[in-house]
Parts: sequence; C-alpha cells; structure tokens
Amino acid sequence: MTDQAATRHLSSQRGTDDPARRRPDATGTGYAHAKAILLGEHAVVYGTPALAVPVHGLGVEARVRPAAEGVHVDSELFAGDAATAPGLLRPVVTALSAALDLVGLASGAQVRILSSLPHERGLGSSAAVAAAVTRAVADLASVELGPDALYKVVQEAERHSHGNPSGLDARAVVADTPIRFQRGRVAPLEVGAATTFVLADSGGAGSTALAVAGVRARLDADRPGVERVFARIAELVEDGAVRLARGDVAALGEAMTEDHRLLAGLGVSNETLDRLVAAALAAGSAGAKLTGGGQGGCVIALAGSEEHADELATALRGAGAARSWTTTVPAA
Ligand code: PMV
Repeated sequence: MTDQAATRHLSSQRGTDDPARRRPDATGTGYAHAKAILLGEHAVVYGTPALAVPVHGLGVEARVRPAAEGVHVDSELFAGDAATAPGLLRPVVTALSAALDLVGLASGAQVRILSSLPHERGLGSSAAVAAAVTRAVADLASVELGPDALYKVVQEAERHSHGNPSGLDARAVVADTPIRFQRGRVAPLEVGAATTFVLADSGGAGSTALAVAGVRARLDADRPGVERVFARIAELVEDGAVRLARGDVAALGEAMTEDHRLLAGLGVSNETLDRLVAAALAAGSAGAKLTGGGQGGCVIALAGSEEHADELATALRGAGAARSWTTTVPAA
C-alpha cells in the first residue's frame, strides 16, 4: 500500500463504534530497541541463519492518540499529514494502518515518534519504529499482541521500506536477548560470558534496499560463486553461536572478521567501513565487521572488557567514526 493509500484507508474507516473515539484523550505507547547483527546479514535473506544482539541503549518510543480524521505524524524527520510524509516515514504509516486494522480500531490517528535510534545506519530503525507504533496502537486498544501478530505487521512495514526483508530485524528489535534467526523463526542464544561490543557509525547512510538489490544482482550473475559465499557465512554463524555460548571471544571475533571480508566481496562494504574494521583490529579488537545492510552505516567490534571498549571507541573515532555506542550482552 502506498503512503497515500494507507492514509486514505485510515481516514475512510472512521466507525461510530470505534473504541478510540469513545476515549478521545487516550494515548497508547509502544517501544522497540535497536539491534546489531553479529553474523549472517544478507545471506539471511536467502534462508541461512543469522545472529543478532539487542542494543538496549538506543530505541524508539511511539505515542498514538485517536484523531477525528486523517493521520498526523510528528517526528524529528517530519511533522504533518502522513500522506505528504517522506519515504523514510513509510514504515510508520504502513505499520499504523496494519495495526489499526489488526486491533479493530477504525479512526484517524496522531502519532508521535521519539527516537534515539539513527536511521539508515544498519541498526534496525525502520523495524523498530514499526514495532513501536504497532505496540502503541495495541496499547491504545488494550489488545494483547502476540509475537507472531507483531512480527506480521512489522514485516508488512519492512516490505514497504526495503522490498524483501528476511524478517531478522522484525524479530530482533523486540527480542530482549541475543537471538538466532532463520526463516522467520527465532531462538534465544546462549551466552557463556558477558560480551561487550562497540558500534561505530561510519557517518554515511546505508540504503538496505540498494545493498540487498546489489547482492541479488551478484547472485543472478554468478549463482554458484555467491551461493558458496552464503554457505561459508552460514558456517560462520553456526560456529559463532557455539563460540558465543562458550564465551570464546577470540574465536567469535575471528568469525566476525571473516564475515566482514565475505560481505566486502559481495560489494556491501565501502572504504570507510573497511578502515573502521582495520582500526578496531589494530586497537586490539578480537574481531570486527560491518553490521546490517552496509554500504554505509555502522561497524560492530568486539571488546575484551568495558575499559577496552573505551579504548576501541577512541580508536574508531580517531579513524573517522562519527559517533559510537557500547553495549554489553550479559551471560545467559
Ligand atoms: O540495515 P538493516 O538494519 O535493515 O539490516 C539489514 C539486514 C539484511 O540482512 C541486509 C537484510 C535483511 O532483510 O535481513
């Protein structure tokens, strides 16, 4: 559905028996956090597994209120009628429409988005915003949404923002623990020892849609070659899950750095990302790679400890990172 169609759909379905209309002051709130892909992006689109960790310090809060008519969005990027919102707001508009349908609310809405999660940085911003909006609508309607219902709505929004999403982001932005994902299914990962990661922003936006399309073009041009790369990425993911469970940071790091090289071979790295990975390794990281769609966005580097994370962050900023965040995954 286009932005306009989604908006039309919302404003044309105002029912007199709409619960939201009976509670005009009600506000629904919803939250979702950032994620970082540890291993397996891109290949995951073709059915191989991937590992992701939650980044709890960065997130999106959505507040939804019923409105007499139309859909109004208020965010850092845009404020106004959703029909005229830029493409980046598409996940918001799509999720809102699908969520209102799902919970049986038919009315206009006012949505406020408060986000500390940078967009187009490979951190799952479009999925997080869609999940936050969906949860806010469910909250407004006092409906309990199960994980699969939430996943379905976020996937619909993701399809509008990057075409052929694997579903990894839709699961990862609402998972409280590290996860293994494959073909829509998730399982929590075992973590043998608290593990600290530094995320560093290359400063450039990465379009997931373009990066995914680039890999598709390579697959079409050289299916056996690219399938071999996907198979090796799948092995790294499986090994990575075992190494994380053992708390073997050195071995996990080796898998991450090899994955970065394979992703670079698929054309989804760039000079800045390669420079940041090299800087992390030179500063003693056990392993580093781009994370998410690539061609911009962030790198993720393993740190030996929280103190080492500070040193890594300094080295990464010295190598040109625009900003960085540190996140620790506790043993579980
Ligand atoms: O750039 P992000 O945060 O949307 O992550 C994309 C991950 C890919 O594997 C490249 C695409 C996907 O749908 O899984």
